[in-house]
Amino acid sequence: MSRTILLTGPELAADAMNLAASQGVRVIPTIPYLSSEELEAIIRAEQPDAIIVRQGQLTRDMIEASSNLKSIAKHGVGYNTIDIQAAADHGIPVSIAAGANAQSVAELAFALMFSVARQTALLDARMRDGHWDKSSANGIELFGKTLGLVGLGSIGSILMDLVAPLNMKVKVYDPYLKQLPQRAHVEREDDFDRLLAESDIISLHCPLTDSNHNLIGAAQLARMRPGSILINTARGELIDTGALVEALSERKIAGAGLDTFNPEPPPADSPLWGLPTLVATPHIGANTSEARDRVGLVALQQIFDVWAGKALDPRCVVNRHLFDLCSAVE
Ligand SMILES: NC(=O)c1ccc[n+]([C@@H]2O[C@H](COP(=O)([O-])OP(=O)(O)OC[C@H]3O[C@@H](n4cnc5c(N)ncnc54)[C@H](O)[C@@H]3O)[C@@H](O)[C@H]2O)c1
Repeated sequence: MSRTILLTGPELAADAMNLAASQGVRVIPTIPYLSSEELEAIIRAEQPDAIIVRQGQLTRDMIEASSNLKSIAKHGVGYNTIDIQAAADHGIPVSIAAGANAQSVAELAFALMFSVARQTALLDARMRDGHWDKSSANGIELFGKTLGLVGLGSIGSILMDLVAPLNMKVKVYDPYLKQLPQRAHVEREDDFDRLLAESDIISLHCPLTDSNHNLIGAAQLARMRPGSILINTARGELIDTGALVEALSERKIAGAGLDTFNPEPPPADSPLWGLPTLVATPHIGANTSEARDRVGLVALQQIFDVWAGKALDPRCVVNRHLFDLCSAVE
């Protein structure tokens, strides 16, 4: 009997849909952001062998609604919407497409740096409004500046190399990094406060964990150089929004480029929208054709490997520690 994959969201990219069809696998897309009741009812009716999570929550009730479920794959890397404990309780690995969208996110972080440094979003909006700010506009060059990277995983590592042609120095703060890659322009900085004080740009590329909410608050913003830039393509909760609004309003730092927010989307009356030195994008770091193609194929391959009983790369199985705990208890 053919196997079934339920997708919480629209169809995968064409290559992935073709691969599924070639293996005789039925893929069932759903309308994005269905209610929990509707999604659970579909899972109960279809009894999928795997679920690819694109949008919205995957709760314990949904996981328990299919007795055939063997694999859950995140279409991306952020898995905070999936009940990974419930999956582990039923022996179901939850996998992420680690690294598959890293190039796209790193390029967006780079683009935000340029955009904040040269005020491209503001000047574009002003021109559309009939202004010609040639005599008043003033930007900052990135050439030769120091970039402070918080987290040197898939995304931070690509950004580290992207800035090299601009003669930028890179300081890396990553307490879990085993080995710093050998690059003349890159050094390690284990003191977070010193990283803030000695960088012209701070860019966040670490995961959100239980212990790093508001990693950048008023005290950290106060340590940053006047004229410095803050970039966040990681998670909105890493920044205390109120403190950032104050720092930007009082011109304590030169600007910020944000792709992620707390909450998402920010409310229409958020004070963020009144800040001319802010450049904002709606959490689209991974939204490129190339990343979508790669992520869809990776998610599908992970499911095929689980079905075939092959081991997944342990770095991609985000609930493996919960399995370990179960076996340790037994
Ligand atoms: N904007 C988007 O669309 C988008 C897309 C993908 C990922 N992301 C975000 O970017 C983050 C990074 O992605 P990645 O693929 O590079 O992840 P990754 O797991 O490859 O790398 C994360 C790095 O952060 C380090 N780290 C962990 N905790 C830290 C801390 N408290 N301080 C400093 N470093 C710490 C880890 O050691 C690791 O090297 C993800 O967790 C996700 O939240 C956003």
